[in-house]
Amino acid sequence: MKTVMARQVLDHKDKLSTVKVLQASLVDLIDLALQGKQAHWNVVGPNFRSVHLQLDEVIADTRSASDEVAERIATLGTAANGRANGVATASRLTAYPDGFQTAPETVHLVADRLATTIQALREAIEHLESTDPVSQDLLISVAARLEKHLWMVQAQEA
Ligand SMILES: [Fe+2]
Repeated sequence: MKTVMARQVLDHKDKLSTVKVLQASLVDLIDLALQGKQAHWNVVGPNFRSVHLQLDEVIADTRSASDEVAERIATLGTAANGRANGVATASRLTAYPDGFQTAPETVHLVADRLATTIQALREAIEHLESTDPVSQDLLISVAARLEKHLWMVQAQEA
């Protein structure tokens, strides 16, 4: 197993600290995308179609963000871990409930999970200020995209 790249862009201490934070965000994003599909498949009732279709937009952006974060981890010389068992144990999101959910309940559940992901991203952004501004910039762009989705999901609660 190859674990060390000859040319590192960060010093060892900053790299370890940065990768730990990115890895924690990665598993949250993977879980958010999986939970988004669970929500997309199982939403029922009035407004089904708009919520069902909107969720695929959230999922597409979340998947693309997870890919960017994983590739940033690899760029820093560490193997990204997006395996299911790791996501199941390390994600900070509350598990999605079983069964069908009404559209209003789906909106509420997805908004809560977006908010949890965003809060953790904002803590990561603060942490990365001192270790890696390039990784920080990536998480800022991810947070901006998810915050826009949170706006558009929770606007339906009014
Ligand atoms: Fe679908």
